[in-house]
Amino acid sequence: MELEKAINERRSVRGYKKAPVSRETLEKVLKLATRAISAENTQPWEIAVLGGETLRNIAAANVQSFLAGEKPDLAESTFDGVYRQRRIGIGKKLFAAMDIAREDKEKRLWWSSRGFGFFDAPAAFIIYMDKSLGQESIFDIGCLAQNICLAAMEYGLGTCVEIQAVMYQQGLRRFLDIPEDKVPIMGVAIGYPDESFAANGVRSDRAELCENVRWYGFD
Ligand SMILES: Cc1cc2nc3c(=O)[nH]c(=O)nc-3n(C[C@H](O)[C@H](O)[C@H](O)COP(=O)(O)O)c2cc1C
Repeated sequence: MELEKAINERRSVRGYKKAPVSRETLEKVLKLATRAISAENTQPWEIAVLGGETLRNIAAANVQSFLAGEKPDLAESTFDGVYRQRRIGIGKKLFAAMDIAREDKEKRLWWSSRGFGFFDAPAAFIIYMDKSLGQESIFDIGCLAQNICLAAMEYGLGTCVEIQAVMYQQGLRRFLDIPEDKVPIMGVAIGYPDESFAANGVRSDRAELCENVRWYGFD
């Protein structure tokens, strides 16, 4: 797939076909994605690839913790100001696509729970790193995650990067062999997109460059 097209057409996929993704295909995605840049080529990412019963068990435990109102080990950021506005912007688009009314608490809860359940994707990655590492390494993991999202498209796959996947860290540790000196940073759901799933048709907005970019030494 052409790079410009892939970057432009990538979107978070929150509804997947049931079709499994083969280990071979996931390996191809990871092989390509791990060409990502990293500070001093440290490649700080460690990746747990989840599928089958393990994924279903983790998804079920996550959803159960969320619906029981358990306090997550890792909280979502509270975004203020312009960040809050942008967050509300994408939320409104997704709720409109899914026909979820503002006051419909039950449906909103169901929608949130889907993220904790990896959106019923047939596979997922949990990306973790050594606790001793710092800012550069978290940045590197972001670069890897973006590469995963783009590389996946080469194989007809969709993805959703998600903090919800790693918010119940102790729950993850019950199922995965993640040593205590490592910390899960982010999850990525992956699978073949269900194009009939309304939220997958949402195109997120981007600020005009003049909002975020300052030029120095240019006319
Ligand atoms: C660090 C990070 C964490 C995210 N966490 C979640 C999440 O927990 N649940 C979710 O539905 N989407 C999550 N997303 C997806 C974003 O909401 C999405 O990328 C953003 O709204 C832009 O939409 P797009 O990916 O379709 O362009 C996350 C994305 C990033 C980069």
